[in-house]
Amino acid sequence: MLKGQFPLERFKAQKTPFYYYDMALLEKTLDKVNSIVGRLPDYKVHYAVKANFNPVILKAIASKGLGADCVSGGEIRAALEAGFPASRIVYAGVGKSDEEIVLGLRSGISRFNVESEAELDVIAAIAESEGVVAPVSFRVNPDIGAHTHANITTGLAENKFGINYEQLEGVIRKALSLSSVRYCGLHFHIGSQILDMMDFVALCNRINTLTLKLRMASLPVGDINVGGGLGINYQHPNHLPIADFDQYFATFRTHLRLPQGTAVHFELGRSIVAPCGSLISRVLYVKKGTTRQFAIIDASMTELIRPALYKAYHRIENLTSDLPEQIYDVVGPVCESSDVFLKGASIDECRRGDLLAIRSAGAYGESMASRYNCRKLPESIFSE
Ligand code: LLP
Repeated sequence: MLKGQFPLERFKAQKTPFYYYDMALLEKTLDKVNSIVGRLPDYKVHYAVKANFNPVILKAIASKGLGADCVSGGEIRAALEAGFPASRIVYAGVGKSDEEIVLGLRSGISRFNVESEAELDVIAAIAESEGVVAPVSFRVNPDIGAHTHANITTGLAENKFGINYEQLEGVIRKALSLSSVRYCGLHFHIGSQILDMMDFVALCNRINTLTLKLRMASLPVGDINVGGGLGINYQHPNHLPIADFDQYFATFRTHLRLPQGTAVHFELGRSIVAPCGSLISRVLYVKKGTTRQFAIIDASMTELIRPALYKAYHRIENLTSDLPEQIYDVVGPVCESSDVFLKGASIDECRRGDLLAIRSAGAYGESMASRYNCRKLPESIFSE
């Protein structure tokens, strides 16, 4: 969305800070995904609810027929309330509690992505006492270092996620021997904000080798969930605002070697919702320090923690100024030195009351908000 296209009159009447979601862009993004996977009957896309669980966003995504990838009982409830059918909900997470397992079983979700043998034992026992059969896949730790921020890689041997190769055959055999679980397949996820398709090629190669090995050991493979991770262009949010889904799905089509009819599941979060969201904030003060100039705004790390946590870049635009650019450190009011959105940002000259848009904040923005410093959780408004 170009600077002039934001609904400024609405924004001026609104208490800041708040999230603004461009629902037309979200819809176009979902239509793009559907236009590709609609031609690939074995491909099923789930939306990773953790990226943004705002009910309006969830409903918009559910209405386009995607499934939901959840990591907690709370996310399963949110997905069901938004209209995702239980038969399209998958549930991952290294620490599923008994209560969450019961919720998943009673709701009839389609898959538990199991992350350890200990968890398999607990799910089997709970399913037995509930008198049901739990559908399980195993999350494999593929030991692949994706080229992304260290805190958002998840597929390395040192990470807590998944089951390692050595243990996999054993847990599959165990699952096959248990009457209260049904073995359904394998799950992978290598990390997030991945733009280098070679990382996904490496994942495909690992999956090809592993599934061949399982078949040679006369073990079933089931369906394959490749996780999420497709990145977006944070530098230039208006250039290609829809992530490169053509290249992404084509990479799996070209490199995965699976028996005909094998279902391939995807769990995309960021690439679906990041571009459509902006955090809108007012400039409170402009302050000249000894060496730097600060734009102090009313949003903080409690609304958007990504810059503080990952040094993540979000483009910042002054929506209400056309004055020549100046250099600012854009900071929030919270009592932490890391409450900084961007250092040395080149922005149209800021005055008190100007409205700034912090772009590409639709994923892991509102969903990671906190109440630190007794701040309120952010509100949200929508383009329609
Ligand atoms: N599936 C699994 C098992 C995951 O752990 C994740 C994200 C996804 C799918 C969705 O990945 P995506 O398509 O959004 O990359 N808070 C961080 C990102 C953490 C991602 C955690 N897992 C950030 O703000 O960058």
